Amino acid sequence: MANLVGAITTSHVPAIGKAIARDLQQDAYWKPFFDSFPPVHSWLQQARPDVAVVIYNDHGLNFFLDKMPTFSVGAAPSYSGADEGWGLPVGLPFPGNEDLSWHLVNSLVADEFDITTCQEMLVDHALTLPMKLLWPQAEQQGAWPVTIVPVCLNTVLFPLPTPARCYKLGQSIGRAIASWQSDKRVVVVGTGGLSHQLDGERAGFINKQFDQQFMQSLASDPQWATKYAIPELVEQVGTQGIELLMWLTARATLGNEAARELHSSYHIPISNTAAGVMLFEPAGQQVVQEEALAA
Ligand code: DHB
Ligand code: FE
Repeated sequence: MANLVGAITTSHVPAIGKAIARDLQQDAYWKPFFDSFPPVHSWLQQARPDVAVVIYNDHGLNFFLDKMPTFSVGAAPSYSGADEGWGLPVGLPFPGNEDLSWHLVNSLVADEFDITTCQEMLVDHALTLPMKLLWPQAEQQGAWPVTIVPVCLNTVLFPLPTPARCYKLGQSIGRAIASWQSDKRVVVVGTGGLSHQLDGERAGFINKQFDQQFMQSLASDPQWATKYAIPELVEQVGTQGIELLMWLTARATLGNEAARELHSSYHIPISNTAAGVMLFEPAGQQVVQEEALAA
């Protein structure tokens, strides 16, 4: 049986890619954001995941407005980025884990999630930047230390899946990982959010109070956000802040019990976005000792 070692959630603002490309991690604007990752790096070194299931939203690179699956899963041998128009360098392709992809596809369909299976898939900044943030040395070293399974949620073209549906998707992904006949260690990554709005009258909108309540809920009361309808959540966190659905989905893979929150940080703003990072281990599992993270 595969071992789900934890879940990491992070924002994915394109400007992060520019900062990495220009080596601006120590710059006054960027330092507080990049400084929130070393505890996650320590955890990753000790938790040693082999596979990352990356839950993210495409922003018009792989799916455009003409065809927009609500939920899609990659089942490709490898995934490349591409020039999306942000001027970010295209990095090393990501090796896929086809075995877990097909197990996940079969499990989700058996669980009544009518997903779209993608045997070719371009991945955008919402997947590539979190990978660079989590494994900053990988590209220089010439290899990603994990294989990946991309899971894509539509958060760009209405109608969007409800928070309750996303939560159930996360639970189903968690069950699929647990039933995968493999000795691999799996980490789930959820990217996007937190509050931000890039367009319209509320452009620049950020809601610190709601973001922090949401972050708190993920540790001990992960179903809290499922009570909201999409328009209510958009009102709270902005049209693009709705990307916090990926955090909810990622957290739901660990089940309903209170999870072990090992790291949490929140920083306003990165570009137009309230940027956060969180790290959880499943309840009752101590993958990494807390003292080891502080070291
Ligand atoms: C920004 C944030 C995003 O999540 C995104 O996909 C694009 C831009 C921003 O704040 O600039
Ligand atoms: Fe985004």
